[in-house]
Amino acid sequence: METENHGFGEELATLSRISERAAELIRHQKEVVVASHVDADGLTSAGIISAALDRANVERETLFFKQLDLSALETIADLGPDLVIFTDLGSGMQSEILEMDLLAVVADHHRPQGSGIDHHINPHLVGLDGATHLSGSGSTFLLARALAKAAGRAGKNDDLSGLAIVGAVGDLQDMASGKLLGLNRRVLEIGVEAEVLSFARDLKLFGKQTRPVFKMLEFSSDPYIPGLSGDEDACIAFLKEQGIRLRGERWRRWIDMNAEEKAKIASGLVRRGLRAGLSNAQLERVVGEVYNLLTEQEGTELRDASEYSTLLNATARYGHSGVGLSVCLGDRGRALDEARRLLNEHRQNLVNGLKLVKDEGIVPLTYLQYFDAGDRILETIVGIVAGMSFQTADRRKPILAFAWSEDGRLKVSARGTQDLVRSGLNLAEAISKAAEKVGGVGGGHNVAAGATIPLEAKDEFLEEMDALVGLQLRS
Ligand code: C5P
Ligand code: ZN
Repeated sequence: METENHGFGEELATLSRISERAAELIRHQKEVVVASHVDADGLTSAGIISAALDRANVERETLFFKQLDLSALETIADLGPDLVIFTDLGSGMQSEILEMDLLAVVADHHRPQGSGIDHHINPHLVGLDGATHLSGSGSTFLLARALAKAAGRAGKNDDLSGLAIVGAVGDLQDMASGKLLGLNRRVLEIGVEAEVLSFARDLKLFGKQTRPVFKMLEFSSDPYIPGLSGDEDACIAFLKEQGIRLRGERWRRWIDMNAEEKAKIASGLVRRGLRAGLSNAQLERVVGEVYNLLTEQEGTELRDASEYSTLLNATARYGHSGVGLSVCLGDRGRALDEARRLLNEHRQNLVNGLKLVKDEGIVPLTYLQYFDAGDRILETIVGIVAGMSFQTADRRKPILAFAWSEDGRLKVSARGTQDLVRSGLNLAEAISKAAEKVGGVGGGHNVAAGATIPLEAKDEFLEEMDALVGLQLRS
């Protein structure tokens, strides 16, 4: 067990020390600007730091950005802030932040570029992989903990660990191994200790809290279960075969099943998967660790970290980050209602996007494959659609997806698989080089990265990416 041999104590201590210095700087401010990223990890990061600032009586203004480019930095600089706290972004823009003369704290997990920010909390700085070992929300949680400690109230912000885990799960940090690792695991342990989190081995399917079981099976996309995913009738028949009663007073959800029923369904799924030729690695992803937020009501999206993160994505990716932030900060009334409405729309958009990719197909290159959605998939969700497309696409080549961005440029999202990463794939590195070559900017993680490039640069960019990814996979 990793926690026995390597509890990441040293790494945690180093990042905590950096956090404590940053906290000293923050707590003497009257007002700060928080700049965060528009996805579940970014929203939970903003939620964590906002709650911690409120508790420390530091006023804040919170801004969300799709990416931290020069124009975003100018927007921030125009506010004339005394101090900016960048969360889930900033590590890739250190020299630019310094050139703007901004006093900054960065709590991020993207691959650092350049150097120069002193108050910089990032797992890469202690040799840990930011795609699996700590999320942006995790880095921000360490900062929030340090703020409590600096105020002489150590442990006071440990309840915010729930949000940190939602962010990590939102960034799919548990995907590679079926559970959270590294410093994420330390965050989890702090949350368990504080009685706000629990974890268990369970089905990894989405919708355990909120969907009827047959719907949960029907909508399973990752892992994709041949013969069940996408087929409501087959799912109902499958459950009846296992002797499962579908209805009680209402459609029964996963959380309504007793242990025996759960075991029957799980082993039935494994048998199905084996018969359909799923690999061991794929089967292992059907069952894994799941994370519950004990302070949230059972049967709601917010109880399950994965459902919570999807709810947040559904606000942020459609320009309603404020709604998601309010949910993170505890609004269970209007903001939650609005978030649920957005979630329904989001689901429909993902279904439509997947259908488009299926109908039009994916173009293979030597080492990559790609599709171009033009204006038919929003640039903010095209990466999610690309990732989900692995259900049916060739898993041996990374997927690039293009969509028009609202500023007249081209958004690119790149997604790989864990197997490809093990073979040397690093999409962040490839995409930032290729984008720079054609006059764009990009970055991200080894398994998921993105860029914005000039519209006319698509072909050159593809050629460049194909060559770079080829180099990675051959070496
Ligand atoms: O937008 P998308 O979901 O494809 O982004 C995947 C990852 O790449 C995210 O972590 C995002 O922060 C990062 N990214 C980046 N620079 C960009 C676009 C995306 O670092 N220009
Ligand atoms: Zn993130």
